[in-house]
Amino acid sequence: MRFVVDQQVEDIEMPENLKLNTFLQEFHSNCTHPECGFGFYGFAFGQSPFPVPRLVQGALIKNANKGEYAAVSGIPELRNAISKYNKYYFRMDVSPDRIYVGPGTKELIFNLLEILHGTVILPTPAWLGYLPQIRFLKKNFHMLPTRANKKISPNDLRRLALRLQDRQKILILNNPHNPTGILYDESELEEIADVCRELNITVISDEIYAQTTYDFSKFVSMGKIYPEGTFVTNGLSKSHAAGGYRLGYVVFPQHAMDLKAQFKKILATEYTAVSTPIQHAAVAGFEISREMDEYFEVTRNIHHIMGDYTYHALSSIEGVKATKPEATFYLLADFNGFSSALQEAKINTSQQLSESLIQHPYHTAIVGGDSLVLERTDFSARIAFVDYNGAEVFENYIENKPKTSTDRIEFVKSNAPKVVAGIQMIERFFENIKQHTPKLSQVAEVYGFKKLA
Ligand SMILES: Cc1ncc(COP(=O)(O)O)c(C=O)c1O
Repeated sequence: MRFVVDQQVEDIEMPENLKLNTFLQEFHSNCTHPECGFGFYGFAFGQSPFPVPRLVQGALIKNANKGEYAAVSGIPELRNAISKYNKYYFRMDVSPDRIYVGPGTKELIFNLLEILHGTVILPTPAWLGYLPQIRFLKKNFHMLPTRANKKISPNDLRRLALRLQDRQKILILNNPHNPTGILYDESELEEIADVCRELNITVISDEIYAQTTYDFSKFVSMGKIYPEGTFVTNGLSKSHAAGGYRLGYVVFPQHAMDLKAQFKKILATEYTAVSTPIQHAAVAGFEISREMDEYFEVTRNIHHIMGDYTYHALSSIEGVKATKPEATFYLLADFNGFSSALQEAKINTSQQLSESLIQHPYHTAIVGGDSLVLERTDFSARIAFVDYNGAEVFENYIENKPKTSTDRIEFVKSNAPKVVAGIQMIERFFENIKQHTPKLSQVAEVYGFKKLA
């Protein structure tokens, strides 16, 4: 039997994060060098390393017997809990009937793009998940490259939107931002909102990293600044280290009654409802409690410590520029200072850079620029600083909170040795590239993989 695949599916590519998984696995099985057994320095995967909060795990176990289908928009207890969560943490008054629960924000963003007519404006660099969806839905779209500070320029947004003929435009705002770790402040959001009001731009504000904002008082939701035109998405994946639970939510704009009925139709058509036990578990994760509050505080402090270390260590390498993260567990490292040396070494694209870094003896996994919706020849990369044992580090932090800047550096060295060694490996890679005489075998000796395994 020969199956004929629909052309629409043939035309789309595997999303970059999944391609990366395959690539790393292949690299592993193909590498015959004994040191490949060590694995690699993992700067590529965007997963929180911490355990799922115990409260959430307990609630999941307790509700394992709930086999009935749930309501399409989410169980009432969960929509209530999410409403209170938004009030408590994000100072937003959102009634539960503006909240829809779905199997992850990725799916909900896809559903929003399905129901919203209009041309999509995608600021770049961007999370690798949006573009395949936009392409799959055959939506018109325009990139909006950001400038040196990696933030959307309201003037650039205005200029682009004025050129677009559609009566509605959709801006994808990701705040805090993957891959740079940057955070928009209130006045920056207000300036963007002014342009959106003026030119009828709807905003999908992907705020999945909100809870990881290092100085939490600085986070402001676009839903607060532009409530009439913003869809806010958030969920369990990053804040609760539960990406595998597949639970996200979207807050609809004020006064979007007609749209809500259309949205519900789509959800009912595509997936009926999110798994009922998972929704009950999520209630425990979104309800306000001392335990969850402590969990958020500890995890965001650890991300902060790791982020500061990674930023300073990478920036101190001559020729490397890095964004200074204020949230998330990522930063964007700019290696374009080495362009000519890389080209001489026959490394012409960011994909080739990722491949060279993962090879023996460097064993370092990064996400290259073309996966971040940058030019193929842009040697920027996303560095995720989560390659450590989250459960252990969480306990170590509680037992002995680092106070001074020296304590913080020591904390990284003793709790995340692979982050430290991986950055050294990146440095060594570029030293070798600069010298055009890569003495590769020596590198492995110097950095002794086995000690770290
Ligand atoms: C910016 C951004 N948005 C959305 C998601 C997906 O979230 P979810 O697990 O809720 O689908 C991710 C996950 O990596 C992300 O980085």
